Amino acid sequence: MILKIRRKEKKFGDVTISGAKNSAIPIIVASLLTNEKVILHNIPDIKDVRTLLEIIGKLGPQCTFTNNTLTIYPTKKVKTTIFDDNVRKMRGSYYLLGVFLSKYKKIKMYNQGGCDLGYRPINFHLDGFKRMGTHIIETTTFISLKARKLLPAIHNLDFPSVGATINLMLASVLVKGKTIINNCAKEPEIIDVANFLKAMGANISGEGTSTITIMGVKALSGCEYTIISDRIEAGTYAILAAILNGGTIRNVNTQHLHSLIKLLQESNCVVYSNVDTLTIEQKDNLKPFNITIAPFPGFPTDLGQPLAVLGTQIEGRSLITETIFKKRVSHITELKKMGANISILDEAIYIDGKTPLSSQKLYASDLRGAASLVLAASLNSDFSYIYNIETFLRGYENPLEKLANFGIECYLVE
Ligand code: EPU
Repeated sequence: MILKIRRKEKKFGDVTISGAKNSAIPIIVASLLTNEKVILHNIPDIKDVRTLLEIIGKLGPQCTFTNNTLTIYPTKKVKTTIFDDNVRKMRGSYYLLGVFLSKYKKIKMYNQGGCDLGYRPINFHLDGFKRMGTHIIETTTFISLKARKLLPAIHNLDFPSVGATINLMLASVLVKGKTIINNCAKEPEIIDVANFLKAMGANISGEGTSTITIMGVKALSGCEYTIISDRIEAGTYAILAAILNGGTIRNVNTQHLHSLIKLLQESNCVVYSNVDTLTIEQKDNLKPFNITIAPFPGFPTDLGQPLAVLGTQIEGRSLITETIFKKRVSHITELKKMGANISILDEAIYIDGKTPLSSQKLYASDLRGAASLVLAASLNSDFSYIYNIETFLRGYENPLEKLANFGIECYLVE
């Protein structure tokens, strides 16, 4: 699918942010830990959620999904062998490993997919499961986990991995005794997953700090829960506002975007923020930035690619140092095609602005790379064509309408 896109008019944008993809995925999977009905609000209607619901629907549990509310009805019989191609279409399918291990003590599943950001091992997850007494078979196509009894463990992560922290929480909530995850991730999505598990009756403390402690409970109950809004979607539109004519971003927890707000302010943008709204006013003569990507509360890797477009519109040299996914650079070739002056040296991405970006035929290789191209194409009043736009739809809800609020005209073309 192709996105035909151009800037139609100068307009102060206004957008309301949807639920967080990276909370929704693990929380939907975590719902399978209980034998009772779960109702989730603010679930974004994005491709990754639809793919996950297809996987779950084929395993047994039934779901209804309308107006961003998802209801999951458990079933007694659940398949624990998941050889479904949908598993390979997304990264977050790997949360089925932690949940099924916890609940059924076994799972056999295709390897997870997701954006190609270079080598993305899941050794922290698997080492953790092993520490809990799991027998693991890992091949190039599938993973099989089996445990007679799961044991509590102390996990010392080599890196504060978001996925490993969540998967180990999921695997441990029903394990008798005390589990500790040291050097865990502190992202808002971790807190959201922990809050959801607590709403089901789990005993978890320390989420949002470097150490999470879990006291296993016998069973989890159903619950009704509203997930947080998507800080990465909000950040993407905030950057769009900064490169175009400004805008208001609503329904965002501005504390989750502290690092971006600070960067924009230091670059001379005029930013007003209160608890849940961010307003960015258009300003010329922005100053170049120098940012190192780091785990939360550092600058998020998921905004590094969109941020590069801002760099192209600022006079002077900006620098983005990507320390988490060093190969997260698919957007660079495409931005260069449009006329951007960008060079890469190891982890450092140097952007020399200010350069106009021409309309082009572009190829989107990964989700946030696609977002970067959408922003870049929004700068030009001639149409650009972004191929493989499906990858963008994996993580952004209703983007055509939201972009239109910024004066962007775009269509999906088969
Ligand atoms: N790592 C390992 N071994 C592991 C796990 C991670 O070496 O077992 C390394 C990774 O290779 C990477 C670093 O640790 O260098 C951090 O990876 P992390 O596990 O934190 O990332 P993830 O769980 O695979 C999630 C999000 C990503 C987001 C990162 C970082 C989901 C489904 N994915 O990935 O989101 O970039 O955390 O915040 O939640 C996106 O939304 O576009 C996206 C890629």
